[in-house]
Amino acid sequence: MCGIIGYIGKGEAAEVLINGLFRLEYRGYDSAGIALIADGDIFVRKVAGKVKELAQMTSGQLPHSHIGIAHTRWATHGVPNDINAHPHIDCRGRFAIVHNGIIENCRTLKRFLEEKGHKFISDTDSEVIPHLIEEFYNGDLIAAVKKALNQIEGTYGLAIISLANPDRIIAARMGSPLVIGKGREEYIVASDLAAIISYTDQVIYLKDGEIAEIRKDSIRIESRELGLVTPEIEKVTWTLKQIERGGYDHFMLKEIYEQPIILRDTIRGRLNYEEGTARLNGIADYIDDLRDADRIIIFACGTSWHAGLIGEYMIESLAGIPVEVEYASEFRYRKPVLSQGSICIAVSQSGETADTLAALREAKRQGVPVLGICNVVGSTIARETDAGVYIHAGPEIGVASTKAFMAQVMAFALLSLLLGRQKRLSLDEGREIIEAIRKVPDQLSQLLKVLPDGIKAIARKFKDHRNFLYLGRGYNFPVALEGALKLKEISYIHAEGYPAAEMKHGPIALIDKEMPVVVIAIKDAIYDKVISNIEEIRAREGIVIAIGSEGDEQLKKNVDYAIMVPQTLDHLYPLLTILPLQLLAYYIAVFKGLDVDKPRNLAKSVTVE
Ligand code: AGP
Ligand code: GLU
Repeated sequence: MCGIIGYIGKGEAAEVLINGLFRLEYRGYDSAGIALIADGDIFVRKVAGKVKELAQMTSGQLPHSHIGIAHTRWATHGVPNDINAHPHIDCRGRFAIVHNGIIENCRTLKRFLEEKGHKFISDTDSEVIPHLIEEFYNGDLIAAVKKALNQIEGTYGLAIISLANPDRIIAARMGSPLVIGKGREEYIVASDLAAIISYTDQVIYLKDGEIAEIRKDSIRIESRELGLVTPEIEKVTWTLKQIERGGYDHFMLKEIYEQPIILRDTIRGRLNYEEGTARLNGIADYIDDLRDADRIIIFACGTSWHAGLIGEYMIESLAGIPVEVEYASEFRYRKPVLSQGSICIAVSQSGETADTLAALREAKRQGVPVLGICNVVGSTIARETDAGVYIHAGPEIGVASTKAFMAQVMAFALLSLLLGRQKRLSLDEGREIIEAIRKVPDQLSQLLKVLPDGIKAIARKFKDHRNFLYLGRGYNFPVALEGALKLKEISYIHAEGYPAAEMKHGPIALIDKEMPVVVIAIKDAIYDKVISNIEEIRAREGIVIAIGSEGDEQLKKNVDYAIMVPQTLDHLYPLLTILPLQLLAYYIAVFKGLDVDKPRNLAKSVTVE
């Protein structure tokens, strides 16, 4: 996700656009750029770095203009550098665009356009858009834009300016948000209200499939399905802070609720139902190394380590390839012995974690290839790995990782499917997994509608307890670890995650009527074993908060509290069972009045040892 903005009207476009970028910076901030129509030309300035870099570089340099577009980027294709920054233009500099979204078929479109003689200068997916418009333009801008958009598979929120029609901005939406502010003789189109509300409280929310032709004193909206539509003007009532958080009280809650959308981006273009497998172009050159590895070593820290542990279970059970998961901080110092048949995977949301970077460098020093599973495109770890998979989770502002964890687990689900099909999964088994993966975003959306009230009640009841235990088995043991970490991080309550069977090897001594025990007891292959563990806890007056499978009425009778999730395949359950644990940690911290987004002592990215 990134921030786009366009302005047309009586005012000074440059000022409105730069101010608007600052307001959109929380949406993406690895590079920024602006394009203005002035003196019969399109004036473009763009730079890697934050919006303030762009503002300083262009201070006093921007031409007087009443029309322009601007962008603050969160890269998905092409590292953050000056050339990959938006706006992007066509060969002859007649069309400029800013884009928010992912174009799945960008490679195909690029080949088509290059065969037509178009020259590309960036590594982004977005750059195909101005060249498509140029290719199809024959005097009618809207017609050319429509034809261009019909070629695109993926998502876009777009703003386009053109020398052919310097009196209008074209805006189009499919899958990425766009809102249009209506002022007096001026319009602003942006990714969200943050860039608009200081100019007007009259807004039009563009819908998917709609394209708007915006002049300084009029707007025309056409829907792909419905043809010409009447613009519905609404009044904005939110404050700026509310808007930046999408109306949620904290970024963490916003990011928890973004998870269904994020997973769709993580999956986008990566499922091949025909062949019942996954497509991970970023590591295409290393699939054989992974398939034939005598050992895959995953290293990471914190939440990313938990995702890596789930990855281990997935790859071993679906593909039968030996996997080990290491704490990066241990791996880097313990003089690990790596055989030439090994291959490593570094998992990191920020791509800047010092311990994970050091572990990566140690593996490469031993001549072993290292792949990355990262969120931030162009981050140090992403750049130093030999290849990788970006999780496309967008900027994660809350210190406690939620949507990135979800996307990391999904990345491992795709990788284990791909390797499983290379090794031993049948076509039907692969397709069954794909069908289950495709259901997960909607299952999460449904849970987000029904879970909060019950979880708030549990959070209110247990917010003052001093200790929690989290238990799980199999794929849900790492989920127990992650649930405990979430609680620790933001509520400062001591919590430990354990394999459920470990209880009798010591931790059961902790059980008493003061100890809430969160147990993940979904109906998977080891359900009965977990039920026995619950009985052991209940026999010692422990309080059991169970995460169970919808329809499991027996479980509900045998525990103090039950939070239910829908059925899925065993190895995909972590994508569902982590959600109630994220919400439980969030509401306990909120009811304790703590700073959920910036918990004490923590940093979003631990770039020191
Ligand atoms: C998770 O909620 C924490 N913020 C922390 O454990 C984090 O996962 C860890 O520091 C690793 O960060 P990375 O994924 O950016 O490498
Ligand atoms: N996919 C585009 C890029 O990587 C846009 C990313 C965004 O939405 O910021 O440049």
